[in-house]
Amino acid sequence: MVDGGKNLRVSVLGGRGMLGSELCAQLRALRCDASAFDLPECDITRSGHVAAALAGADAVVNCAAYTNVDRAEDEPEAARAVNATAVGELGRQAAARGLYVLHISTDFVFDGAGDRPYDEACAPAPLCVYGMTKLEGERALAGAGCRHAIVRVQWSYGFNGVNFPVKLVERAAAGGELRVVDDQVGAPTWTRDIARALTELLLRRAEGLYHFANAGYASRYETAVFIAGRLGLSNPVIPCRTADFPVKARRPLNSRFDTRKIRALLCAPIRPWQDALGEFLGEYENKRRPGPAR
Ligand SMILES: NC(=O)c1ccc[n+]([C@@H]2O[C@H](COP(=O)([O-])OP(=O)(O)OC[C@H]3O[C@@H](n4cnc5c(N)ncnc54)[C@H](OP(=O)(O)O)[C@@H]3O)[C@@H](O)[C@H]2O)c1
Repeated sequence: MVDGGKNLRVSVLGGRGMLGSELCAQLRALRCDASAFDLPECDITRSGHVAAALAGADAVVNCAAYTNVDRAEDEPEAARAVNATAVGELGRQAAARGLYVLHISTDFVFDGAGDRPYDEACAPAPLCVYGMTKLEGERALAGAGCRHAIVRVQWSYGFNGVNFPVKLVERAAAGGELRVVDDQVGAPTWTRDIARALTELLLRRAEGLYHFANAGYASRYETAVFIAGRLGLSNPVIPCRTADFPVKARRPLNSRFDTRKIRALLCAPIRPWQDALGEFLGEYENKRRPGPAR
């Protein structure tokens, strides 16, 4: 890890979300002065709230987003306000204050056609409102004139939010077979590993567009089989197709990222998804298990 975190004042927008909370914890462990800003007291669609969050900061990380992918289809203006318009305003305020911005985006900016891993030069073509508004946010930030980096992440999971591994374990506990799609491919990626990379970019004030994911690829079904094996779940895991589960928003089938650009910058290699998910599941099980009787 690069030096320079001590006493750095970092405002983390969306700082109580799944990624933001992990990032705040890691920054504080490095003795950064990390402040979490989130709903309801900080609404990034309100420029006065953004100004208050930026006051006194040396840098800002934007983890805030409208992340309900299916609901965004019914509420495109609400999604656009958070994911696009507010990001442009954040960038303009940061430019006026000379602040560096690290912003988080998504694989949903791509249509997921084919099976080639996406690098940063690939042309975006979002399939849904969420992806469209996140792409608009990237462009608004790039046009705002502040020093910034954008990190696209995908298939992330962590302790403090709704995500595939946690939902699968909860479904398993309810009993019965687990039907899981086998035609969506990406890399399950732990927020702990994302936050580590973000911290490094922040301390270096890296600029540009980056793709981050844990190493290797798997389908959702293969991920579920891995989780079931690690946790000793007895539920049968049955592969099925995305088309078998109609949902409002179209999702990319291919979420593979080419991470060469960010790997060239980071101090340590990015670990395989199996190592990260295995460690997460171990900690997750320990948290779920009741403590010893007193
Ligand atoms: N999770 C994934 O698989 C995934 C994949 C690709 C990219 N991403 C991106 O990763 C970033 C972090 O997301 P996450 O996974 O940590 O999801 P998350 O847990 O939903 O975090 C988003 C946070 O933003 C907050 N927020 C929503 N609207 C806001 C507003 N108007 N003002 C201030 N805060 C607001 C949310 O608060 P509430 O909970 O109260 O709404 C939540 O705390 C986002 O940019 C997301 O697009 C996530």
